Amino acid sequence: MAQRIQGTEDLFGGYMRAWQHMQDVARELLGTYGFDMIETPAIEQVDTFVHGIGASTDVVRKEMFRVFSGALMERLLESGSEGGLKAKQRMAMRPEGTAGVVRAAVENNFVPQGGAPAKLWYAGAMFRGERPQKGRLRQFHQVGVEWLGASDPAADAESIIMLMEFYKRLGFPAERLQLRINSMGDAECRPAYRASVRQFILDHADEMCEDCLERAEINPLRAFDCKNDRCREVMATAPLAKDNLCDGCAIHYAKVKQYLDEAGVTYVEDPTLVRGLDYYTRTVFEVECEGSRVGAIGGGGRYDGLMELEGGKPTPGIGFAVGFERMCLALRSLGVDVEGEDPGCVYVACTSAAERDAVFSATLALRGAGVRTEADYQGRSLKSQFKQADKLGARLCVVLGSDEIAAGVATLRDMRTHEQGRVPMGELAARVVEKLG
Ligand code: HAM
Repeated sequence: MAQRIQGTEDLFGGYMRAWQHMQDVARELLGTYGFDMIETPAIEQVDTFVHGIGASTDVVRKEMFRVFSGALMERLLESGSEGGLKAKQRMAMRPEGTAGVVRAAVENNFVPQGGAPAKLWYAGAMFRGERPQKGRLRQFHQVGVEWLGASDPAADAESIIMLMEFYKRLGFPAERLQLRINSMGDAECRPAYRASVRQFILDHADEMCEDCLERAEINPLRAFDCKNDRCREVMATAPLAKDNLCDGCAIHYAKVKQYLDEAGVTYVEDPTLVRGLDYYTRTVFEVECEGSRVGAIGGGGRYDGLMELEGGKPTPGIGFAVGFERMCLALRSLGVDVEGEDPGCVYVACTSAAERDAVFSATLALRGAGVRTEADYQGRSLKSQFKQADKLGARLCVVLGSDEIAAGVATLRDMRTHEQGRVPMGELAARVVEKLG
């Protein structure tokens, strides 16, 4: 039997309804902030991610799924190297949404010189070759937001306010959410800060793990995220970004906090929060749900250099993404129903095959009136049609027998109260709609 790949999930039934609900909540909330939906391809040129996310990040170095057509794969196996491939032949599944949206913004000139900011949101599958575990999948789903062209710290604060409101509307109690924020500096102050963290790691080389020594050379700030206890102890005394901000970054960060305070958003400043993607500048943030043990349920930040890295004009940007599967796990751990109600239906049953044509006409009329309608397509007995109606969560059952057909009526049965009565066929759809309220 064919099996799904480890770290992937089938979304169906209540789980699918939960995913659709999250998108509906996002559409309504983000709409009030002026965001429009965008869908970018799930595959992009590798360079889009290398330029944006960063060649030295784990996401790009270790986790990105590469895509080759069968023919290309054959050529590669023959030649033994991908050196001869053109940029457009080097493709990957998107590990996140930001790089692709920014690539689309550059390609389609979403933010022309002097133009208004582009405000975009998306919902879709992302792919990362991570070791699968609870809340860590190889194919997972994100709702994400990208706000391009806004440099004002109010945009940072409003992004965070939107994010927290999104959780609230999904049923997260505010007191269970922990929002951590930090400022990572910008092109002016970060290079010196990176160098000081690199030097700090090298000065403590004999106390730190091999991975951190490698990080010192390629991405020193990631050492703050090392899972090794000893490294964590050492990094607790490392220089912090907040003490090394240039004036512009310090003023920006203070303003973001002022707006969050004014909006009543509770946050914790975490000077070790560095995030796993290289494009961030200034504000970064992450949210966890206490007690859920699934890791971050969302995160984001400012990325003022990304448009340029993707080949566009200098354009500031900020955004965030939330993970659908982790939010479901967290909500379930809180006892919040994520699946919502089964939509139910109206079931049209018949006493024998002779009424099949009448069933066809009745379902046509009911569906025409917008009623979710089911019927039997397998020649079942009346008893087993009723059973099936129950299984499908039917609230009403329309029964058609020879008597009904002869009298031009249908029997309408309420599946909860078992009350039933006859209605003229011509009024069936209207009466059903009325009964369903
Ligand atoms: P991220 O922190 O890498 O940020 O991912 C955002 C969220 O996606 C995480 O907080 C988590 O809930 C979920 N997630 C990430 N990886 C996995 C996984 N392997 N399995 C299940 N869920 C996962 C970004 O992706 C940025 N693009 C966010 C952003 C948008 N920054 C600015 N704009």
